Amino acid sequence: MQLVEWAEETARDRLAEALPRRWSHVQAVARRAGQLSPPLGEDGELLHAAAWLHDVGYAPELATTGFHPLDGARYLRTEDVPSRLVGLVAMHSSAAAEAELFGVADQLGEFTDERTLTRDLLWWCDMTIGPDGQCMTFEERMDDVRARYGPDHYVTQALDRGMAERVGAVERAEAWIASVGLAGQV
Ligand SMILES: [Fe+2]
Repeated sequence: MQLVEWAEETARDRLAEALPRRWSHVQAVARRAGQLSPPLGEDGELLHAAAWLHDVGYAPELATTGFHPLDGARYLRTEDVPSRLVGLVAMHSSAAAEAELFGVADQLGEFTDERTLTRDLLWWCDMTIGPDGQCMTFEERMDDVRARYGPDHYVTQALDRGMAERVGAVERAEAWIASVGLAGQV
């Protein structure tokens, strides 16, 4: 089976029934990544597969630590998938900053943040799709997270701690999207 098909099927099996709202978000993130996949070239398939799987760690049977990037990556590490895919899921959307506050930085440190355009695009897709799968600007999405979790939650605190890195990824992603003529079209 091709990687993207496997990723979609795996995400559906793990999330669609158990977490339908999360599944709506994942489908929209994957749709957006799929639009960016052709111009990205040889990494297109990797981006698309990572988008399908980025939140698989929320699946109840995989959520052993409760920190979803880590739980998803640990699960994927047991499957026959590229190590870059595992690293992209582990480190998506400033997970490293959140891991420090959640107390799992050491465990997450087993994985690699590749800091590539592909990684920036995954972050951008995730950070511009809302919890129900709606398109949002990055700023709207950040405000939404703050409102949902409240000022004292570690996710909100991690948001601010990782903000410079998030903004950098969004800026690089949007510059690339404009350079391939897709600004305003994805
Ligand atoms: Fe997500």
